[in-house]
Formats: sequence, C-alpha cells, structure tokens
Amino acid sequence: MTATETTGLRFRQDYFSDPAGWAALVSLLDDTFGIDIDPLRELGGADPTSMPFGWFTEGGVLAANLSAFAMPFVLNGRLVNAAGLQSGAVRPPWRGRGLYRDVTHKALGWCEAQGFEAVILYTDKPDLYAPYGFRSLPLHKYAGPAPAPAGSAASRPLQPRDAGDLSLLQDLLANRKPISETLAVASSPAMFLINTQFDPTIRLSYLEEGKAAIAWKMPAAGHFVLLDVIATEMPPLAAILAGLGIEATTVETLFHPDRLGWSGKALPYEGGTRLMLRGMEEVSLDHPAMLSPMADF
Ligand SMILES: CC(C)(COP(=O)(O)OP(=O)(O)OC[C@H]1O[C@@H](n2cnc3c(N)ncnc32)[C@H](O)[C@@H]1OP(=O)(O)O)[C@@H](O)C(=O)NCCC(=O)NCCS
Repeated sequence: MTATETTGLRFRQDYFSDPAGWAALVSLLDDTFGIDIDPLRELGGADPTSMPFGWFTEGGVLAANLSAFAMPFVLNGRLVNAAGLQSGAVRPPWRGRGLYRDVTHKALGWCEAQGFEAVILYTDKPDLYAPYGFRSLPLHKYAGPAPAPAGSAASRPLQPRDAGDLSLLQDLLANRKPISETLAVASSPAMFLINTQFDPTIRLSYLEEGKAAIAWKMPAAGHFVLLDVIATEMPPLAAILAGLGIEATTVETLFHPDRLGWSGKALPYEGGTRLMLRGMEEVSLDHPAMLSPMADF
C-alpha cells in the first residue's frame, strides 16, 4: 500500500516556484515551529538549490514536508560537497502513518542521486535520524578575555530589509571566506538572511574599511558575543571591537576562531538542538567547533 492510498494525499516535489505551494510551507512551519519564513521573499528568495518533498491535501494544505538543499561547508580545511535537510514536519492529524519516513527516504535518495558526499541537519530529535546513519557532532563555542580594541575603523548598522544594505549583504555573502577552517558554511546566503529576522537581539554592523559584515550580540554589559563575520578577508577580533566601538571584558565566539587573531577556551555549546552528519564516517573535527548560528536551518 502506498502513502497516497492510506492518506488520500498527493505527493509533490520541487514546488517552491508555485506561490500556493510556498504559502502552504510557510503555514506548515508557522503552525509546527512558530517561525515565519515568508520574509525570505523580500530577502532575495528561498535558496535556489532547495528541493522540497511534500504531501498535500486536495485543498492544498501541506500535511508533511522535508526539504533538501545544497549546504557546502568547510571541515578541517576541506570543502565538503554536502546537502542539508530542513523544514521537516508532519501536521498532527497525519502523524504516525509513515509520511515522515516516506519524505526522508525521498530526500536522502535525491541527495544520493545528486552526488552529495554528506548530509547534515539540526534536530531536537536525534533518534528520528539515527536509523538513517546520522550521528551527532559535539558542538563547542569559545570564550575568553577580550583583546584591547585596535585600529580606528568605523562601522554602521546594517538593515537587511533596506534595499541598499540587502544588496551589500548579498554581495558579501556571495564572496565570503568561511569564518573558520575547522567547521563553517561556505555560503548559505538565504539561511544567514532569514536568521537575522528570527532573533531580534542579533545586531548587524558593517565595517567600512575592512568591508566586513559583523553579526553580534551584547547580552550583558562587557560581554561580547560574535556570531559571524562575512568578509573576503577576516578582520582581527581587536579590529572588530574597535570598529564597533565596544569595550568588552569578555568575548564568546560561536565558531572556532582560527582566523581572528584571538583564541579562547572551548566550552560545550548547549543550543537545544543537535547538529547531525551522515556520511564521512571516518572524519572527526580537528578542533572543538560549531557552525555559526547564522547558518542554522
Ligand atoms: C517528528 C515528526 C516529523 C514525525 O512524523 P510522522 O509522520 O509521525 O513520522 P512517521 O510516522 O513517518 O515515523 C517515522 C519514524 O520515526 C519515528 N518517530 C516518530 N516520531 C518520533 C519522535 N518524536 N522521536 C523519535 N522517533 C520518532 C517513528 O517511530 C517511525 O519509526 P520507524 O520508521 O522505525 O517505524 C512529527 O511528529 C512532527 O512533525 N513533529 C513536530 C516537528 C518535528 O519535530 N520535526 C522534526 C524536526 S527535525
């Protein structure tokens, strides 16, 4: 028996160019996770490499979905041709009927046919993916005393919804150098842009001289948290602090800071979700690391 026969649903793949299909996904993710991905339409659109797999009702409601997309990342200095999986959800009335198993098989089959050497995803339900050969990667941030600010660079705030700033950000994202040699996304502009919308405490600044966009937070006085740097040449942490006009006493970087002229102490990162990897079984991280939360998907 196929899933169609048991549910009365219709399977569709690659439906993002259909406005009704996109709206159905926006609704599924809002209802399931309370997140709104519709602003992506004003931020350059969904990742063009996305390949969604979904089961729709006759009325056009998306009952089950899982999307694959190209997610090249650097691991231990090597560019990995990887896919990511995201937007995995089944509406409550259709759960427990094998629909998620079905879209998972379809998405992984597509990844294999495309020749991706690895697949990564974030989840709070690792047991859901372990049967498919996914394993959790331990995640670490870095913390330590702040360097003295150095240099006289100036900065200005960036607003992704401003047309000029969006174009500047897209240009920087298209040409960025990965933030770390150990573990970092190579590109993923759509993820970066939508993540600026999900957390209002994230601040974006542009260092004019270094041509670098900085994603950062200041959760407590004197405590600077660096989430990401989008640049072709990475400015040192001391120059970033000077450019932002910040006098911090402590710094956290939410990635391995091997390109910032600064080192901190690796600490386990408790982010609530696990990063899981399928493929590259023999590989482990050369240093404790994590993917910047600006790459969360
Ligand atoms: C998790 C979820 C996608 C499962 O959908 P579903 O259609 O009920 O799943 P299926 O019926 O296809 O079951 C697939 C398999 O996953 C298992 N499974 C289902 N829910 C699970 C859970 N919460 N944790 C671990 N395993 C689970 C099933 O036992 C089944 O195992 P089997 O293949 O060995 O029989 C659905 O409950 C959901 O949308 N939850 C909220 C959003 C969410 O958590 N999404 C995943 C985020 S990464």
